Amino acid sequence: MLSEKVRGEIRGVLRNYKNLRSACMAALQIIQREAGHITEADMSDVASLLGVNPVQVEEVGAFYTMYNVRKPVGRHHIQVCTNLSCSLLGAGHIVNFIERLLKIKTGGTTQDKRFTLSTVECLGSCATAPMMQVDEDYYENLTEERINEILDGLK
Ligand code: FES
Repeated sequence: MLSEKVRGEIRGVLRNYKNLRSACMAALQIIQREAGHITEADMSDVASLLGVNPVQVEEVGAFYTMYNVRKPVGRHHIQVCTNLSCSLLGAGHIVNFIERLLKIKTGGTTQDKRFTLSTVECLGSCATAPMMQVDEDYYENLTEERINEILDGLK
């Protein structure tokens, strides 16, 4: 169930849309920023706020990999791009390195709930491959040393 704070934020952005259905992505982003992931109940609440069928909200949540739908993630969500440019420049090695470092498999979350590791399609930063997104930030030209620095810097 959405908090009053989140409901208020969503109502605030609805003013920017003539067609409320178009606010779906913004609403999901607000929820995720606040809670880290989006539950079934959250999507139902968004549907009510937008005046659409819940399945329409679920479709948006399921289509875009940037949304953590139904499954909680750790405090920091590591998303390694494994598309063509990144793969050619070592994304597979990067994923294996992070799996070993964090002692989890892709899709998993560390026991202390600090990190979740996912692989994703192209994040539009091909020229600086291999790269990953952690929470809202991009990290590019990755090396093992750089990954150690980045992850050590995240509480
Ligand atoms: S292929 Fe990795 S950012 Fe485009």
